[in-house]
Amino acid sequence: MSGAVVRPPARGFPAWAGPEARLRHLLGYAVQAPSRYNAQPWLFEIEGDGLAVFADRRRALRAADPQGREAAIACGAALENARVAAAHHGHAAEVETGQARGVGEPLARLWLGARAAPRLADELLFRAIPLRRSSGSVQTALLPEALQGSLREEAARLGCALRPVPPMHHRALAALAAEADAEQWASPRFRAEQAIWTRPALRTPAPAPARAAGVLGRLLQRFSGTGRELDRRIGAQLAGLLLLSTRGDEPADWVAAGRALQAVLLRAAAAGLEASYLSPPLEVPGVRQRLRRAIFEAGHPQVLLRLGRGTVLRTPRRRPVELVLRAFAPAVEVRVGEESAVEAA
Ligand SMILES: Cc1cc2nc3c(=O)[nH]c(=O)nc-3n(C[C@H](O)[C@H](O)[C@H](O)COP(=O)(O)O)c2cc1C
Repeated sequence: MSGAVVRPPARGFPAWAGPEARLRHLLGYAVQAPSRYNAQPWLFEIEGDGLAVFADRRRALRAADPQGREAAIACGAALENARVAAAHHGHAAEVETGQARGVGEPLARLWLGARAAPRLADELLFRAIPLRRSSGSVQTALLPEALQGSLREEAARLGCALRPVPPMHHRALAALAAEADAEQWASPRFRAEQAIWTRPALRTPAPAPARAAGVLGRLLQRFSGTGRELDRRIGAQLAGLLLLSTRGDEPADWVAAGRALQAVLLRAAAAGLEASYLSPPLEVPGVRQRLRRAIFEAGHPQVLLRLGRGTVLRTPRRRPVELVLRAFAPAVEVRVGEESAVEAA
């Protein structure tokens, strides 16, 4: 399958067509959202002037994301892209989040809403949709106060919190990240899943010892104890680390986190910044719980990321809109991993 390269829809918005054509157009923006391993775990259904998003169970990452939390985050990010694009095209779209407890229930719905002039804030986000990128690692510098404030506001607008993880917690966080990383790589299921999604040509799990730990894990193995050199190196790995958190930890909170993440990423992209993620300590449920206590987080940690200038090696592909429509999806054989980008583990 040849996936489309990330790019906004080529044709103009069908402003005078019915809601179905307009919502389909918005999907061209929705699918440009980020997702773990670029799995694109979303399916959409157009119902009148509503667009429902579902987690695509065939694209679930059962080892890395056992609860479907990151999948819901990705769905939320996709819906926020659609909302921002709707605003640009003159619709005051609204998002309603459900609980999605049963199979086949949508995680959330976007309603096209009344005609309204676009707001300046949404225009800024809209222009950044094609600019936003993830990077394996980024060079972080202290973000200007004003930008930090805008990023916090974007998260708060959607009921989430964004805050820096202070250096005093970096050592504990690095140890938890290394533990999670080691636990994941010790699991044949995790290695198989990672191989499928990131190396379509290979399709075999990497042997455990070769991939046993990420950068932080290797660092901690090499320098045990409390040396200053270790702190300096960990500091360099985690400088500028931000935590996005939510008050609750239900599917609706994960969708809100995804919407907030996307708004933050677009704001950052508008300022020329890319994102790099530190997901393993949030993917192993026991480690995620301990991380919460170790960094004195009152809310539920959802995303750990750094923003800065990065080097993007490759533009990840996306499934075309036809393949993310629920009505068509079951008829199409989706070969997992075909469109995936190579992640820097
Ligand atoms: C919730 C979430 C977690 C992610 N975790 C990681 C990660 O741990 N490592 C990584 O390299 N990329 C991570 N990514 C980024 C994806 O790899 C990236 O979004 C995908 O490859 C598509 O690329 P793009 O964001 O540049 O469009 C994550 C993205 C999301 C939404």
